[in-house]
Amino acid sequence: MPLLINSPSMATNNMLLQVFFITLTALISTSSSIAHTNICRSYCGNITIDYPFALQYGCGHPGFRDLLFCMNDVLMLHISSGSYRVLEIDYAYSALTLHDPHLSTCETIVLGGKGNGFVVEPWRGPYLAPDGNNVFLLIGCSARSPLFQGFPGKHLACRNVSGMGCEEYYSCPAWSLLGTQRVGSRGRVYGSGPPECCALPYEAIKAINLSKLECEGYSSAYSLAPLRVAGPTDWSYGIRVKYSVQGNDEFCRACEATGGTCGYGSDGIRQMCMCGSSNSTSNCDSIVSGSGRGRWSLLNILTGILMICASALVTTRTNTS
Ligand SMILES: *[C@@H]1O[C@H](CO)[C@@H](O)[C@H](O)[C@H]1NC(C)=O
Ligand SMILES: *[C@@H]1O[C@H](CO)[C@@H](O)[C@H](O)[C@H]1NC(C)=O
Ligand SMILES: *[C@@H]1O[C@H](CO)[C@@H](O)[C@H](O)[C@H]1NC(C)=O
Ligand SMILES: *[C@@H]1O[C@H](CO)[C@@H](O)[C@H](O)[C@H]1NC(C)=O
Repeated sequence: MPLLINSPSMATNNMLLQVFFITLTALISTSSSIAHTNICRSYCGNITIDYPFALQYGCGHPGFRDLLFCMNDVLMLHISSGSYRVLEIDYAYSALTLHDPHLSTCETIVLGGKGNGFVVEPWRGPYLAPDGNNVFLLIGCSARSPLFQGFPGKHLACRNVSGMGCEEYYSCPAWSLLGTQRVGSRGRVYGSGPPECCALPYEAIKAINLSKLECEGYSSAYSLAPLRVAGPTDWSYGIRVKYSVQGNDEFCRACEATGGTCGYGSDGIRQMCMCGSSNSTSNCDSIVSGSGRGRWSLLNILTGILMICASALVTTRTNTS
């Protein structure tokens, strides 16, 4: 009987096996190391972009796709009514603070219908809406404005929001700069004509479209203080927007818990968990059980070849003995 180890075909088999084992180990370690790096998290200036937001298509939640853009370290948000600078993303309160350069403040009133207002694509509505405590102050709206239709002389649509309203806003220096002539001719008080300013929460009309509402300008203010703030000089001017993934948080939590990064498919609808070298429709643990695609199927082929080799080895061993 010749010694097994001296057989040349056996040596080839052993070498082949070693190569496959090394390849297999390399493949597994590569995919697991990628899986533990969040490839979607990024920065724009000093703002962290994290789930549900992202700057790359395929990253984050599909409800926030094509929304944020980073230009020269300035984070911009783009919706149907226009582009806004993002001043802050508050992940703890699920809120964003937006700035529109044509937004009137306590110091300046911008007329001419140049402001963006706030209108989102209907499909995005459930994901993004101004905070209920954010007041929109519509300025110089025509008597024909839909705001005043159906409520002659009463302007029921107009109301104070979280202690912020037009009566207080009129005390801002910007109004005296506008000139008494204009203000005097239109009248500030609720009476015969339309008021010069109409305060509203976003829910009241669901879209702040200056051309549709026939308004010349607008302001938007919010207060983060738990108590009613002193006056319009203390209000924060900007648009405070709440975001929500619509109770769909479990998918991403499970994905991240298994070392994945949350994203969505090329259809822009289906959520997807990116697990290094492959994507999963649930989480990264489910890949081991065979639902994975991409390089994992290559791994399956390699495992198959490995098994064939092993059985060939056993066959050789049996035949030679
Ligand atoms: C980011 O930088 C701006 C100035 O560039 C500063 O006003 C702001 O407070 C900074 N925000 C954070 C979260 O550090
Ligand atoms: C605003 O209203 C005008 C007039 O109704 C309309 O043409 C325009 O598309 C609206 N803008 C947005 C962003 O919906
Ligand atoms: C809004 O509040 C002011 C005082 O803060 C008050 O004078 C005014 O009547 C209120 N307006 C409405 C419509 O409630
Ligand atoms: C996983 O999904 C992301 C985002 O859609 C895509 O860029 C990537 O190519 C996908 N990877 C695989 C292995 O399919």
